[in-house]
Amino acid sequence: VKLADRLPLVWIHLAECTGCSESLIRTDSPTIDSLIFDYVSLEYHETLMAAAGWQAEENLENAIKNYAGRYILLVEGGVPTAMNGQYLTVGAHARTGLELIHHAASSAAAIFSIGTCASFGGIQAAAPNPTGAKGVDKVISNPVINIPGCPPSSKNIVGTLVYFILFGTLPAIDVYSRPKWAYGQRIHDKCERRSHFDAGEFVESFGDEGAKEGWCLYKQGCKGPYTFNNCSVERFNQHTNWPIGAGHGCMGCSEPDFWDAMGPLEKP
Ligand code: SF4
Ligand code: SF4
Ligand code: F3S
Repeated sequence: VKLADRLPLVWIHLAECTGCSESLIRTDSPTIDSLIFDYVSLEYHETLMAAAGWQAEENLENAIKNYAGRYILLVEGGVPTAMNGQYLTVGAHARTGLELIHHAASSAAAIFSIGTCASFGGIQAAAPNPTGAKGVDKVISNPVINIPGCPPSSKNIVGTLVYFILFGTLPAIDVYSRPKWAYGQRIHDKCERRSHFDAGEFVESFGDEGAKEGWCLYKQGCKGPYTFNNCSVERFNQHTNWPIGAGHGCMGCSEPDFWDAMGPLEKP
């Protein structure tokens, strides 16, 4: 890939914890260095770029102007909308997240909501949601592709980017605008503990004999039967492990409003 062909990216942080960026940098195929030196040009990313202060703001404005209609906007974090967005301001001019998202989205070729915060509001949108946090697609009219998860795996982020690089278009999506290639099946469908579910072998309490044997976590609140994602196949941290492999049930983190809708998280 020639330098000029690298896909320009603008990654902005709104109300979030940066866990999604942490997930991104653990990508293994391609690795993060190969991704950002061979395939994409990371024009703006508050936690990864070298620039600071006015130079950072200049990078953002230059990217929006110079790559208008060509850059992908990736958003990490929900958008606080209460009090006219004043719960989140960025930079020397105290631009609100609401203003920033409209500005950065206006010239983007495509918009990706990275993580459950950007896709659906996330934890800050949990009741009573004092900041009025919302998913990106609730505050702008442009089409948005959602890559939820708290965080989403690097596979789901990078795989969707690579799809766009290879085909010049976005992948097929489900009713929540999630790419079907990544979110087309339930966690439960390919879980390594599924045979124990089918056999009626359940962990009755954390640390019991069933837990040591790797039995099904449904009675400990696993939401795998209601959650669409590919964690059981792709795993995290360069395929090291995933929540159920580590002994805790799935919390449904890639579903809308999971903090409120999936609770209690450790009971069926
Ligand atoms: Fe953090 Fe989760 Fe939000 Fe990502 S989706 S920014 S990991 S709280
Ligand atoms: Fe299904 Fe969860 Fe049991 Fe796995 S641990 S089989 S996802 S209920
Ligand atoms: Fe989230 Fe469940 Fe995967 S909690 S990380 S969707 S196993």
